[in-house]
Amino acid sequence: TQEAKTEEAPAAPVDEKIVIGFSQIGAESGWRTAETESIKKTCEEDPMIELKFSDAQQKQENQIKAIRTFIAQGVDAIALAPVVESGWETVFTEAKDAGIPIILLDRMAAVDESLYTTFIGSDFIEEGRRAAQYVIDTFGPDAEVNIVELQGTVGASAATDRQKGFADAIKDYSGYKIIKSQSGDFTRAKGKEVMEAFLKSDGDKIDVLYAHNDDMALGAVQAIEEYGLQPGKDIIIVGVDGVKDAFQAIADGKYNCTVECNPNLGPQLVQAVKDLKAGKTLEKWIKSDEDVYFGQKAIDALPTRTY
Ligand code: AHR
Repeated sequence: TQEAKTEEAPAAPVDEKIVIGFSQIGAESGWRTAETESIKKTCEEDPMIELKFSDAQQKQENQIKAIRTFIAQGVDAIALAPVVESGWETVFTEAKDAGIPIILLDRMAAVDESLYTTFIGSDFIEEGRRAAQYVIDTFGPDAEVNIVELQGTVGASAATDRQKGFADAIKDYSGYKIIKSQSGDFTRAKGKEVMEAFLKSDGDKIDVLYAHNDDMALGAVQAIEEYGLQPGKDIIIVGVDGVKDAFQAIADGKYNCTVECNPNLGPQLVQAVKDLKAGKTLEKWIKSDEDVYFGQKAIDALPTRTY
């Protein structure tokens, strides 16, 4: 079992600072790295905040361990990006009993609302719907469209909800079919590997690749090129996140659409913790503002993308 890596901040007058313990999932995608940077940078730049950062290397058991360490350290708030949705009741109850608020960041946990203070993040169902809408607008409602889907990490809310939003949006169009759907674990390497298998079995029938994140879609783009087809033309590519590489691939004509998911959650996290300290009640869901990018709009936005 891999141990969680906890980086301690240098010694500081802790009693004057608000201490946040953050358990991050890992570094599986460009999006995840951008989220980590946003949180570290926001905390570093704020003299009132001390961050204790723990990288779980994709393992829930490491996240549970990190939360218990944060509780023992008596932090002021625990931020958690839960790798999967289930299995959090016991440790969240321990935090609640210790009087430490849990702030869910970017992904949801399937627990009673009383066990966490707020969720800061995106509407993943809406992201799935937006991806589907791009496909419907591209092909038209009466078309016959064969779709392959690269799912995110099994059991993660980002995967479950993006799958649901997309499936719901296409269900009334009888010609739209998801012919293959498999997890690529949100990574570029796995996305490529699974797409290779899709191409091997159904290469001549695939019209659209829908991937739950851009990294998997970018891996698939490579697989499609190696297979001898043109991504972005022979197979329409739709991903989620809005990472710079996806914008570049759109500009290169190899990718069609990216549904934005904002990873820059540092400022909202720090504000939420300060509000809590000041005795304010937080909204149960602090939602991110996001857009959909394709065509010229994506090309125009490329130079200003921050992640
Ligand atoms: O939870 C958000 C998802 O997790 C992002 O879409 C993906 O890239 C990441 O790894």
